[in-house]
Amino acid sequence: MLWRNVPSRRAIAATLSVCAIVFLIHVVTVGPSAPTQIQHRFPSSRRLAQPERQDAVKREFLHAWTGYRDHAWMADGLRPLSGGRKQQFCGWSATLVDALDSLIIMGLDDEFQEALNATLTVDFGGEDVVENCDVNLFESTIRYLGGLMAAYDLSNDERILPKLIELGDVLHSAFATPNGMPCTVCNLATTTTKEAAETAALADVGSLYLEFARLAQVTGDEKYMRTVDMLSGVFARSQNDSSIPGLWPETVNPRLVDGPQGYDFARRSSRYGLGAMSDSAYEYLVKTHLLIGHTRSVFGTMWHLASRQIKRYLLFRALIPGANETDVVFPGIASRSLTGPGGSRSPQTLLETRTEHLACFAGGMFAMASRIFNNPEDLYVGEQITNGCVWAYQNSPSGIMPETLTLLPCSINDGRQCDWDDSYWAAESRQSGAGSGTPEEDCIDAYGDCQPSSRFPPGFLQVKDPSYKLRPEAVESVFVMWRVTGDEYWREVGWDMFQSIIEHTRSPFGHAALFSTMEVYQRDTYERGLMVRKVLARQMDDMESFWFAETLKYFYLLFSDPSLISLDEWVLNTEAHPFRLTRGIRGF
Ligand SMILES: *[C@@H]1O[C@H](CO)[C@@H](O)[C@H](O)[C@H]1NC(C)=O
Ligand SMILES: *[C@@H]1O[C@H](CO)[C@@H](O)[C@H](O)[C@H]1NC(C)=O
Ligand SMILES: *[C@@H]1O[C@H](CO)[C@@H](O)[C@H](O)[C@H]1NC(C)=O
Repeated sequence: MLWRNVPSRRAIAATLSVCAIVFLIHVVTVGPSAPTQIQHRFPSSRRLAQPERQDAVKREFLHAWTGYRDHAWMADGLRPLSGGRKQQFCGWSATLVDALDSLIIMGLDDEFQEALNATLTVDFGGEDVVENCDVNLFESTIRYLGGLMAAYDLSNDERILPKLIELGDVLHSAFATPNGMPCTVCNLATTTTKEAAETAALADVGSLYLEFARLAQVTGDEKYMRTVDMLSGVFARSQNDSSIPGLWPETVNPRLVDGPQGYDFARRSSRYGLGAMSDSAYEYLVKTHLLIGHTRSVFGTMWHLASRQIKRYLLFRALIPGANETDVVFPGIASRSLTGPGGSRSPQTLLETRTEHLACFAGGMFAMASRIFNNPEDLYVGEQITNGCVWAYQNSPSGIMPETLTLLPCSINDGRQCDWDDSYWAAESRQSGAGSGTPEEDCIDAYGDCQPSSRFPPGFLQVKDPSYKLRPEAVESVFVMWRVTGDEYWREVGWDMFQSIIEHTRSPFGHAALFSTMEVYQRDTYERGLMVRKVLARQMDDMESFWFAETLKYFYLLFSDPSLISLDEWVLNTEAHPFRLTRGIRGF
């Protein structure tokens, strides 16, 4: 057994409540709950840092940081194989800004001072940049605004505040549209007329509250808060308008907030998920409640409706070896039209059992929500989702979960029958078209061909995107599970994840995304002047700024003492930038 066997208490709970996820709508109390601590009550007498592991993470961080500093200073990104520069987000030095708070957290003070001085020279309001660049509002808010905010909250360096306001106002101008809803990818020059986006990813519109709410707190400027209120109002009013009331579809229509049929905002699509397009729109309900729930109940109310439907429609149990005795669920993708066949009133809900690395954050989201809303059952949901991602890491050929992974649902429709059965598995994976050698439909990987799943580990049915983009979501949930439960198990599985990731991604100038986590090749590499032959995955010349902001930070914090960025004092935005929870006005 590669992952932890569950205690018998869990096994019983699993049998009883596994289908609760699918069937039971359990009643959650809405309204203010008693103040609860998010983190486990760690004994203050015990030193819980794991300095050797922390140093290992810091060494890798410095390797990549040095590459960036020497070869791509002030560019948005570094190309980790060639040492080239990459511009991606208007050339405002995304990697520099995104890494600021990690430098502070890792105690790299000289590097931080140097990086901060450079950041202060970035001209976010410069008309020529703004005029020549379409600003991605979501990415710029979570990376740039979030990065500056966390650097400010952690360092208290007053020089950052004017930059925060300068950038905040540029980004806030995306809301200067006829109906006040944002233009999500937009030329923000003052002279252009802006319109709200007609089609936008749910997350691009639904994950802007936290940064603007914190900006209102630190500047005292109410205009940012009015925007947060307007936006959350639209989400709250439209929450029951979609074909799965309680959830918003993957794409929304900010331009048509008020349509002839009521609210058309949430009827742009009939697909629902927790991965790409949607993810942080749900995460921010929980986190914004944490930040400002003492004055706004709307986020908690939306979360209660949404989380119930997530558990009912999006999570599934999969047929993987040992699934019947392990607590594992995966987030999938649900589709449901507004009306059934012939306009009938009972449309069917289809569940695509494809899970995404991006959706792995949901384990941490449920774990945090369980504490914030005092709902222990959600901790178990969070644990099961995190287990699913850990399982995918532990069982892929590279030790890293692929970008997307299709699984076989448990063999009976109610999801109850999860006993592993080799012949059933073999038949189903043959039927899925894999293993026959024929390329699967819309199966994309870097070389344009799909790998037959006969070579896949048991449980992996299809892998439409086998890449690894240096993403953080799995370690994010592992980190939250550790901080919430205090169970050392999470640090052990996290350490294995870290080692696999470094082994395959380390490159001359930093760390490189991987073409495929599912295929490894023999490669000769040099280590301390000696040639060693290793079996490694193929690398891409790409290293996103979230490698510094999120992935390496979460690993570092996983092995640090739990008092460093305590989840009782900080809320991390979706780019892992910590914002201070102001004492006395915490949202719960
Ligand atoms: C950063 O700027 C400050 C103020 O201009 C200066 O005193 C300091 O030496 C600079 N630090 C570094 C590391 O460049
Ligand atoms: C949505 O539906 C739920 C459940 O029926 C209800 O409690 C809630 O008030 C509704 N919300 C809105 C905004 O209509
Ligand atoms: C799980 O499945 C195995 C083999 O199919 C079986 O032996 C075992 O009893 C099952 N465990 C549970 C808890 O159902």
